[in-house]
Amino acid sequence: MTNQKSTNIVWHKANISRSDRETQHGHKSAILWFTGLSGAGKSTLAHAVESELYKSGASTFVLDGDNVRHGLCSDLGFSDKDRAENIRRIGELAKLMTEAGIIVLTAFISPFQNDRSAARKLVPHGDFLEVYCKCPIEVCESRDTKGLYKRARAGEIVSFTGIDSSYEEPVKPELTIETHLLTLEESVNTILRLLKNRGVIH
Ligand code: ADX
Repeated sequence: MTNQKSTNIVWHKANISRSDRETQHGHKSAILWFTGLSGAGKSTLAHAVESELYKSGASTFVLDGDNVRHGLCSDLGFSDKDRAENIRRIGELAKLMTEAGIIVLTAFISPFQNDRSAARKLVPHGDFLEVYCKCPIEVCESRDTKGLYKRARAGEIVSFTGIDSSYEEPVKPELTIETHLLTLEESVNTILRLLKNRGVIH
């Protein structure tokens, strides 16, 4: 990090390792990083996958954009710089959660490739599983579950992703889920298969 301000700090090694925790939990840690436009179904899918994992006894947690912006990231807005900082914090938090032996599911627009790549690089190779929730903006806009597209079109919200702020499609996501073409159940099953294929769960 170039903006490291703390000095004279010494890393304290934990007695209990990530692999100890994974053994206790009966699965590996991983980050399922959902990305896509507002209304593309990231949160819905993340929570639905979590419910299935929870039923099988896995230790999981969903980090959801709107929720995290109420607390940890309440000082951030939607400029490119603030979004980058938002994703940097979430990347670090998700990394800590993998060290706690958890399967973390993050549901943030995370519109910029550079920010997603930086989050990927924080964790060992293979831990970061990017799931692109691909959905045409017309469909997201017609869903308009939060009424925000309408307000953005009316000029009441500026820098809205897909309208006057860009969304960069993932270059090589582990999965692309076309949420307007698949049922929720089909999408969940595709993600659970990915977790099995990668040896995260049995
Ligand atoms: S990100 O770009 O920094 O990844 P994040 O996922 O945390 O965004 O927050 C997106 C959510 O904030 C949207 O789902 C929407 O509910 C709300 N929101 C409010 N203003 C905006 C905006 N200008 N652009 C996108 N989303 C916004």
